[in-house]
Amino acid sequence: MQSLDASQIGSIGVAAKALKNGYLVAFPTETVYGLGADALNADGVKRIFHVKNRPTNHPLIVHISSILNMTNWATNIPDYAYQLARDFWPGPMTLVLNRSELAADFVTGDQDTVAIRVPAHPVALGLLIKFESLGGLGIAAPSANKFGALSPTNATDVKEELGALLNQDDLILVETQCSIGIESTIIDCTNKKPLILRPGAVTKELIEGALGYKMSHQDRSDLRVPGTLKTHYSPKTKVNIGSNPKKNEGFIALSSIATPKGAIRLAAPENAKSFANQLYFSLRKADHLNLKSVFIVPPQGDGISVAIRDRIDKMLANHK
Ligand code: TXA
Ligand code: MG
Repeated sequence: MQSLDASQIGSIGVAAKALKNGYLVAFPTETVYGLGADALNADGVKRIFHVKNRPTNHPLIVHISSILNMTNWATNIPDYAYQLARDFWPGPMTLVLNRSELAADFVTGDQDTVAIRVPAHPVALGLLIKFESLGGLGIAAPSANKFGALSPTNATDVKEELGALLNQDDLILVETQCSIGIESTIIDCTNKKPLILRPGAVTKELIEGALGYKMSHQDRSDLRVPGTLKTHYSPKTKVNIGSNPKKNEGFIALSSIATPKGAIRLAAPENAKSFANQLYFSLRKADHLNLKSVFIVPPQGDGISVAIRDRIDKMLANHK
């Protein structure tokens, strides 16, 4: 794998060509790093699954540069999905829609739906625009981690996760830390009303504000959502909830909460937004330090705290 400084003139063009030629490109988005392939190239997409060791029935998100390109990949798009796309794209939101013929089984995991996102990160958007100018229609990209591991939020973490598994001609666009730090909100848009499949920075409150109505708590999506499996998003270090770590155990909590005696403070974010930004990064730190156990005090309340608690719950389930 070769590293390219994303801010260097020409890097984005080189990366777009590599994608068009069937290679893989790891690129930053505002949520987490993605591992991209041309969404129309079966061999390229299959390599993503191989590198990540991801089961092939776990569908990928197709990244596009603009709301105008939605209809390439999706059909029967409901009005509320257009409304959400207008309000939150480019941004940390993925819409699951009925797929078009273009969305092949190797991207959708044989489902009749396709997940689409317009990312807001300038490098991701620049890459998409350049790729489309070369005739590409979308970049299929999961988070750039091995299956079941934490999503990487910077280039160093991507190299550590996947560096040895990528080929010489695959690329990584090197940038600073991803600003949001947890994965996009995924919304099922195949029913009369939207349903949140995975919470993220586009919160329930924001969605309800945009649509002008409350989303139901009861409705359950009948879509298969592998990302909600209980074996996702986990560090090696055992994760616990609470503020009672023993000596030399890790501790992550808002800065207003003091470090218990003897514990190793891994992060002290000032608010929920920074908490999301530092969560995966500080859990990777726990792994590097070979800590046995880490204790987290999750932020309470609505907004992005819901997504933070969702990810932490999955880590707890994973270590049961
Ligand atoms: O923020 C993000 O969403 C990042 C960046 C790179 O865009 N991507 C990401 O991809 O988190 P991934 O593959 O790690 O998670 C995408 C989730 C998976 O859990 C997958 O099962 C779900 O989206 N998904 C994809 N297509 C779907 C579909 N057609 N129906 C239901 N779930 C789908
Ligand atoms: Mg992932």
